[in-house]
Amino acid sequence: MWRFRLWDGRDVAVFVSIAACLVQLAGSISVLAPQRSFTRSVQEDVFFSVDATCPGTPTIRWTFMSGAVSRLIGTWRPGASANITDDYGGRVRAYDNGSMGLSDLRLQDAGFYVVTVSEAAGSSKDVGFVLKVNEVLYEDLQYLSVSAVALAGLAGLLMLAMWLLDKLHRKIAAWRRRKQMPENDATELQPL
Ligand SMILES: *[C@@H]1O[C@H](CO)[C@@H](O)[C@H](O)[C@H]1NC(C)=O
Ligand SMILES: *[C@@H]1O[C@H](CO)[C@@H](O)[C@H](O)[C@H]1NC(C)=O
Repeated sequence: MWRFRLWDGRDVAVFVSIAACLVQLAGSISVLAPQRSFTRSVQEDVFFSVDATCPGTPTIRWTFMSGAVSRLIGTWRPGASANITDDYGGRVRAYDNGSMGLSDLRLQDAGFYVVTVSEAAGSSKDVGFVLKVNEVLYEDLQYLSVSAVALAGLAGLLMLAMWLLDKLHRKIAAWRRRKQMPENDATELQPL
């Protein structure tokens, strides 16, 4: 008998209004992201800019995904200190609006980044980003080797210049000695 009472009109109405409330809350979380895809080179920085707003204080969580790997980067709340995992210690900057800066990029950083913004009642919203990380380009290496050759050439020129100066100095010294000799001879010979 009370089985029927459990599902009477009033209970259903309460259930429906709770569900509607949850949907409404989920809808009121907003995550703006001007740019969703980035390409960077190794050792460069990337700034995932987002502006997260929701009723109350949002909790921001950033996760990294690549292939089968899913790794927590960190969680924080605006105004409180961020909790960044050891893997990312020192490389991550957390911002109150949910943005995240990642510095000193490595090849392994390429993949998907997901920011999850959740509010106290438990609803949340995800936004994903794609990061491509390029190796240092061949042209850069060529540029480096060209600079190395130029530096070696400059060093060679400097050594040549020093050698020439040294030779010139010796020549002048010898010429002076030779120029002084006859005078010395003359003064020494004079009494004779
Ligand atoms: C979030 O905050 C940072 C730092 O104040 C700012 O540079 C960035 O533009 C903001 N992002 C958005 C989407 O407003
Ligand atoms: C930071 O996160 C780790 C892993 O989720 C958790 O064990 C730890 O309690 C957190 N620390 C703080 C201060 O929130």
